[in-house]
Amino acid sequence: MKSLSFFSVLFIYLLLASPLILVKAANKLVVDCGNKIRNVTHCANGSLYGMTETIPSEADYMTLVDDLHPYVMRNPPRGKMGDQHPFGNAIEVARRLSRTPGALVSVILTDFLPYWPYQWPGMEKWLELVRQFIRDKKASGLTNWYGYEIWNEAENTWRDSNGYTFLEFWKETYKVIREMDPDEKIIGPCDGLYVESRMRPFLEFCKENDVMPDIMCWHELMGVELIPRRYKAYRELERSLGIKELPITINEYCDIKHELEGQPGSSARFIGKFERYKIESALISWWFNNLPGHLGSLLATDSKKGAGWYFYKWYSEMTGDMVDVKPPNDNSILVDGAACVDDDKEYISFLFGGPNDGTIQTTFVNLPSYIGDVAKVKFEKIDWISKDTVSYGPNSVFEKQYAVNNGQITVILNNCNASSGYRLYITKGDPNSNDIIESVEIPIINIPEGTYKIVNRKSGKVLAVANDSKANAANVHQWTYIDGNASHHWKISEDGGYRILNVNANKVLDMNAESTADGGNAIIWPDTGGMNQRWVIESAGGNYVYIINSHSGKALDVDKSSNDDGGNIIQWSLSNNSSNQQWQLIPVGSNTPIDVIPKKTTTTKAPTPTPTPTQAPSKDSCSDAILKKGYKCCSKDCFIVFTDDDGTWGIENDQWCGCDTPSTCPFAITSQGYKCCKEDNCSVIETDDAGKWGIEDGQWCGISDKC
Ligand SMILES: *[C@@H]1O[C@H](CO)[C@@H](O)[C@H](O)[C@H]1NC(C)=O
Ligand SMILES: *[C@@H]1O[C@H](CO)[C@@H](O)[C@H](O)[C@H]1NC(C)=O
Ligand SMILES: *[C@@H]1O[C@H](CO)[C@@H](O)[C@H](O)[C@H]1NC(C)=O
Ligand SMILES: *[C@@H]1O[C@H](CO)[C@@H](O)[C@H](O)[C@H]1NC(C)=O
Ligand SMILES: *[C@@H]1O[C@H](CO)[C@@H](O)[C@H](O)[C@H]1NC(C)=O
Ligand SMILES: *[C@@H]1O[C@H](CO)[C@@H](O)[C@H](O)[C@H]1NC(C)=O
Ligand SMILES: *[C@@H]1O[C@H](CO)[C@@H](O)[C@H](O)[C@H]1NC(C)=O
Ligand SMILES: *[C@@H]1O[C@H](CO)[C@@H](O)[C@H](O)[C@H]1NC(C)=O
Repeated sequence: MKSLSFFSVLFIYLLLASPLILVKAANKLVVDCGNKIRNVTHCANGSLYGMTETIPSEADYMTLVDDLHPYVMRNPPRGKMGDQHPFGNAIEVARRLSRTPGALVSVILTDFLPYWPYQWPGMEKWLELVRQFIRDKKASGLTNWYGYEIWNEAENTWRDSNGYTFLEFWKETYKVIREMDPDEKIIGPCDGLYVESRMRPFLEFCKENDVMPDIMCWHELMGVELIPRRYKAYRELERSLGIKELPITINEYCDIKHELEGQPGSSARFIGKFERYKIESALISWWFNNLPGHLGSLLATDSKKGAGWYFYKWYSEMTGDMVDVKPPNDNSILVDGAACVDDDKEYISFLFGGPNDGTIQTTFVNLPSYIGDVAKVKFEKIDWISKDTVSYGPNSVFEKQYAVNNGQITVILNNCNASSGYRLYITKGDPNSNDIIESVEIPIINIPEGTYKIVNRKSGKVLAVANDSKANAANVHQWTYIDGNASHHWKISEDGGYRILNVNANKVLDMNAESTADGGNAIIWPDTGGMNQRWVIESAGGNYVYIINSHSGKALDVDKSSNDDGGNIIQWSLSNNSSNQQWQLIPVGSNTPIDVIPKKTTTTKAPTPTPTPTQAPSKDSCSDAILKKGYKCCSKDCFIVFTDDDGTWGIENDQWCGCDTPSTCPFAITSQGYKCCKEDNCSVIETDDAGKWGIEDGQWCGISDKC
């Protein structure tokens, strides 16, 4: 029978009492296809010294370079013998790149100078070098420039013994460039890392002296997990100084393990974060001194592609809009990625990779309507061995059809590792396929920032710090709620996972000693941002949640299921439906737990059954019209999945059957797969276009017509 498999999916979903949690929180990614960040820019597709005058060769240019359409390449002004970098002359490289629309060159002026740190020639000589370059640049007639970088990594390479402070030097050079080449952008300060104690005086000076860079710049080489906080700190600094938001270039980026430069798994996380924070351009660094011209380790040799090249090729193929990706922990080294949705070409592409335990769960929410009831999902990977290993491109792992459940699908991927790069490519699927994968709807919960009582389901007691202690490592226990007791109150906010801060102690809920064992003890500790201080909150059905430690993947648990004041709080493997691991989050000042049940927002259109009258009627307790069409009546506790002029239909043993009990609540609700509430329960939680809704046994239900 047509589409029966699709209805079975709804059945399985409804029969699940509690969500199945098979994948550790540290391996879960959520792509929100409805949350568009910006138009696709491929901001992270350039590199430092990635091209020289001769590498890649002219013969290979179109396949190796043009095919990737790099954005910004960073090159020395002259690239002659005796300079810090004796290759990659910016004017020559700009000429080569001018064939590729959109590709630009950023000029590192410092690279005029010999040695490391750069040997200072004196201000007069320096400014003359700058003027000469500007004249030659103008004479070239080329227009594909990103801008001038005045200096590089000043925190290590500038000496006040040069006779000027760095800020005075900046101002002198800035004025010469503005005067001679007023339309070109000026980029700076390009420190080797982001440090507020250097950035603040720089911005204050620029504001005061009217020498503000057009593009803000620093490097990200010390750990991908630092990027979000640095980005946020910089934007906060701009706001505090009353400076308008500058575009940002991260003009060198690389894994802290330099040998992983260009590795797909490593790069996926950088790309994910640069897209999330709307970085204007980002350039892969260059750690291999004798190998310039490899597009930031994307090439394995001067003329052969590495695994990284193919990963960036996927990136370059993205079109439409970039959409929001929620990694397991933005402030960590864990798996991350970037996704686009193209409403004209009707596809979704998601690139990801990075450390995981072998199984990655990806959930796509708010899928566009053109994907339909069934999504075709293609899964591909690019394996990586080393930056110098030639790659022959991606492998297809599978292509499958997934039932779309309330605009959502969840795809679980096995045999993943940290070094490979992955792509999920989603298009409209085939509803008539025989192999549609049932996908359980994963509740995506957003806990509003606020102060909560955290109440255990089994004991009814609240999470509390013993003896109102404010000390480091003070124990966390349960206690009968005392109104106004601040050590019973917790501020929950999002910071790369949920941070649960005790209001009285101003310290966070922490898994002692980063334990990953069953029985690990919960304490309070000052916020370090560690994964053992971050929590994933998942629906346990109803208004209950599991609170899962991001580091261990274990659930916050009342030891020995105690009901007593002082019962200790530990972590334990998530058990199926153990009430001592389930909690309600009740905003302080309220008695109502926050609503964590996801409700379907779109109506699944039920297909019309196309009965084939082959079966003899069996009972007469359902509609005549259904019996006449050759179907049986269902057995007693029939669950209505479909209603038409003939009556109400259920499914048993994979066959349509007639239900005897007429539906007592709106069809617009039951046709979405929900049951009716008990007839005598008229307590309405919410009303929408479909009708009135209540909640019973942790599931939404339709309020009876009799109410
Ligand atoms: C993408 O660009 C188009 C046209 O320039 C613009 O209308 C749209 O708002 C942009 N989308 C986003 C998410 O910025
Ligand atoms: C690389 O990024 C630049 C800048 O956003 C863009 O113009 C170029 O088209 C990108 N590459 C591809 C293949 O789109
Ligand atoms: C990653 O997986 C691929 C195959 O899927 C394998 O070839 C490669 O060696 C693995 N890498 C690591 C570091 O385990
Ligand atoms: C707050 O609760 C703790 C138990 O968690 C209790 O020891 C303490 O006396 C209470 N303090 C106040 C001021 O109610
Ligand atoms: C702290 O409270 C516990 C009960 O939760 C009690 O056994 C213990 O003696 C108290 N410790 C101090 C230092 O008051
Ligand atoms: C959870 O418990 C329910 C009821 O006892 C059972 O039907 C279900 O199969 C269990 N699920 C798992 C994953 O163990
Ligand atoms: C799960 O636990 C709750 C309360 O602890 C109970 O009411 C419910 O019946 C249980 N469900 C299953 C399927 O065991
Ligand atoms: C009646 O509905 C309300 C809210 O919809 C719910 O909280 C309550 O548990 C229901 N009562 C029964 C007996 O199911």
